[in-house]
Formats: sequence, C-alpha cells, structure tokens
Amino acid sequence: MSLRRRTFLLGSLAGTGAGLLTFRSASGADASYPFTLGVASGEPTADGFVLWTRLATNPLALDGLGGMPDTPVDVEWQVAADEYFGTVVASGRVSAVRASAHSVHVEVAGLPAGRPYWYRFRANGQLSPVGRTRTAPAVGTSPALTMLFASCAHYASGYYTAYRRMAEENPDLILHLGDYIYESGATGVRDHLPTKEITSLADYRVRHAQYRNDLDLQAAHQVAPWVVIWDDHEVENNYAGLVRENDTPTGDFRARRAAAYQAYYEHMPLRSPQAPSGENLQLYRRLRWGSLATFHMLDTRQYRSDQACGDGSKNCPEADDPARSLTGTAQQDWLLAGLGQRLATWDLIGQQVFFAQRLTSAGNRSMDAWDGYTANRKRLQDGWQASGNTSTVVLTGDVHKHWAANIMNNYTSQDKVIGTELVTTSITSGGDGNAADDGTSSVNPHVKFNKNLRGYVRTVTRPTQMTVDFRVVDKVTVRDYPVKTAKSYVIQAGAPGLQNP
Ligand SMILES: [Fe+2]
Repeated sequence: MSLRRRTFLLGSLAGTGAGLLTFRSASGADASYPFTLGVASGEPTADGFVLWTRLATNPLALDGLGGMPDTPVDVEWQVAADEYFGTVVASGRVSAVRASAHSVHVEVAGLPAGRPYWYRFRANGQLSPVGRTRTAPAVGTSPALTMLFASCAHYASGYYTAYRRMAEENPDLILHLGDYIYESGATGVRDHLPTKEITSLADYRVRHAQYRNDLDLQAAHQVAPWVVIWDDHEVENNYAGLVRENDTPTGDFRARRAAAYQAYYEHMPLRSPQAPSGENLQLYRRLRWGSLATFHMLDTRQYRSDQACGDGSKNCPEADDPARSLTGTAQQDWLLAGLGQRLATWDLIGQQVFFAQRLTSAGNRSMDAWDGYTANRKRLQDGWQASGNTSTVVLTGDVHKHWAANIMNNYTSQDKVIGTELVTTSITSGGDGNAADDGTSSVNPHVKFNKNLRGYVRTVTRPTQMTVDFRVVDKVTVRDYPVKTAKSYVIQAGAPGLQNP
C-alpha cells in the first residue's frame, strides 16, 4: 500500500501554545517515509520523559515488520525548548533494530522541570512530525494540571474523533486506561487487520500498527505525554493472569501473552523497567506531578485471581473470599505503601475496572470488576483511610460508558464518602451511544451519573479542587462530530465526593 501524507496547521490549536504542531494527513505518496506510525512521548518526570517512534515504511505488512530491512537503522532525535528548534536542549542517535520491530524508546533526562518541550526524529533522510511533550513540575510546586483520560478504542466500531478532540484540548497530560487495541478479527465501520483474532507476535504488531496509523490517534499522541496501562484486550478478553477466557483459538497462552506484552511495549512510550521478560511485564508504577498529584498506575490483569463463579454478572459469595485478589499481594502492598507516603495533595489511582460497588436491580455484580474481589477493595479503602488520604480519586475505564460515583466506606450502610471514582466512556467501543440511557439506580445511591455516549474525561486539578468534565461525541460511525460536555463536577481537596459545580 502507499501512504499519502501532507502536513497542515490544525486551526483550533493555533494560539493555544501548540500553534505550529503539524499533523500528518492524507495526500501525496512517499514509499520511503518511515514515520507512518507517528511519534509519541510519555512517562514524564521532573527532569525528562520518554520519546517514542517506530519506523515502518509499509506499516500494515502482515509479517509485522513494517516493510523495514533486516538491518539496524540509525535514528537521530532532538529535543528543543521551542517549536522552531531554535534552541536544541538535548539530542542523540539510536539504532532501531528488527528484534524490536524498529521501535525507538529514548529516555531523556536532565531537563528543567515544569515546562513544555518539542521533539522530532530523523531517519531515512526524513524528518518526523514534531511532537510536544513536557516535564512534570518540581516537587514543592503545584501548578494547575489539565489532564485527559480515555480507554477502549475498538477500531472497527468507529472513527477516532474523540482522540482528535483530545488533541484539540491542548492538555498537559493524557492517561490511557486500557483496551488501546482489541484482539478480535472484527469488521465494522473499519475492518481489523489481520482479519482474524490475533495470537502471534506478528499479529499483535500489525494490529498495533493499524491503530497507530490512524491520524486522529497520532494527533493525540503528538500534543502531550501519555501514561498508559492496559486492560484485557491488549491480550485477550477477560483473561486473568495465565487463565484464559476460554480455549478459542487454541494455543499456548504463555507464549501468546509474551507476544502481546512485547508488542505492547514496542508501541508504547514506556521506560526500560517496563520492558517485557517472557510473559511478564512490570506495568504498575508511580509518577509524581510536583506536590499536586501522585499517579498510582495499576495493572489489574497480570496478577489477578480467576474471576469468581465462572465470570459474568452474578450474585456470588465466593467474590467476597478474602483470599481472592485483583492486584496480587505485592502490588497491593506497593499501593498501600505509596498511598501512605502522601507525596502530594491528590492521590490519583489510574486503573482498569469499576471500583465502587455497582449492583444490578437483581442484586448481581460484575465478577470481572472490583465487585468480584471485594476483600481486596476493602483492604485498599481501609488502608487509605488509615493513612489519612482524603483526596483519593480512582480513574477507571473498561465499561464503555461514563460513570461518576462516590466511594463509600460501607456500600450497604452508605455511611461515609471516602473517595471519588471517575469512569471514562470508550473512544469508540460499543459504537454510537444513546444519550437517553440512564444506568443510575436506587440500588446504587452512591453512583451519581451515567452517560452512554463515546468520549473521554477532562480534569483540571489544582491544590484546592479538581474540576471534572465528561466529554462526549454524539456519533463515532460518522466522522468529525463536535465534542461537548455532558456533565461537570467539582471535587474539593480534603472533602471526598462529587459536588455540583
Ligand atoms: Fe473495552
């Protein structure tokens, strides 16, 4: 296939500090252009970040090798203090090799805190698009943070308009909470490649490349550093540790998980401690955003006990067994220790599955979510209460609808609000929504809001309060819908729970 490109100024970004970022678009052909998968950055610290790209002149080649030769390719990179690259503050050269599908991860350090930077790569004699990233603020400072979070971007279900609108928001930081890709061979608005359920390293590479070849997704990566965690579909629906959903298609799941984790690492702006080792990858980690916020990013797939009572929506006493765990013991202890440090005003827990209790009218609960691991949830809640964390916000994906909930000390007695949960809808998964749906119910009085439309959540966090906007687009099966706010809340520091603005 030939990829067509040109660059243009995205009008709505002009004047917002991202004015000269140009985005790739369709037109003109160039078979030697290696930046068909865009550029990205991530993992910001007070003195640096990761820069990412993956070279691919033929990104959808079904061998997963992107049309690249079996020889290392030199890649130069630059970081500048301005968008014109007048003041280059860091630069270097790395080798992109076939063993990692010609992906590039550059860990830049030693830069001043709390400011934007611009970066680019050069390979095959061509320049990449320019990305904008930033360093986290220094500890001791708490400038306002505009952060967006998203999840669940099933490619076949629709267009990535919500990713484009995220780029236009000009955020400081983007979190992706999982289901960045889906493993099925689905057809729909756009068809998945390969056309079957993916199981091999080549398959996972092609699928990631297909998603990353999307210009709306590339735009979202280009405007801000991302912090990513996975859910299940980066490997297989509802897997738990090394327990599969079912046995279809057959195969060695350990090898499949290793392939999926390797492809995930190759395509994400992650640091070297997140490099995979066989079927394992250390994804849970903490990031500090000055004295304003600490991000505790969880992995609720790799270490979990198998879903109770055969998974599904059940009324299942086994779900309350204290021996069951969603995080695994090591991650639970790590999280409790980190919360106990109270490193910043806000403790933001980025994770995958619905945290607060959510009953159906028949009294059933999701065995794949925290409701299927209630003792683990109670240990965490008790831990953060004991440590005096009064500004804990759980950020969630997975369920393809917006939700907002108060986290209760006891969900039955509804005694005391001890935290807040914000659940983002999907980017596309589920297709066009239905604004008239209302999933709130008197059986869940702590659950305040539900909206069945696609989109993302925008937060602006300050030392005193966080404002929250649930952003939605009416359709994703038709391109280029505008974004609007379906609901807003305020969360006061030190006073957990949702307030009307
Ligand atoms: Fe999903």
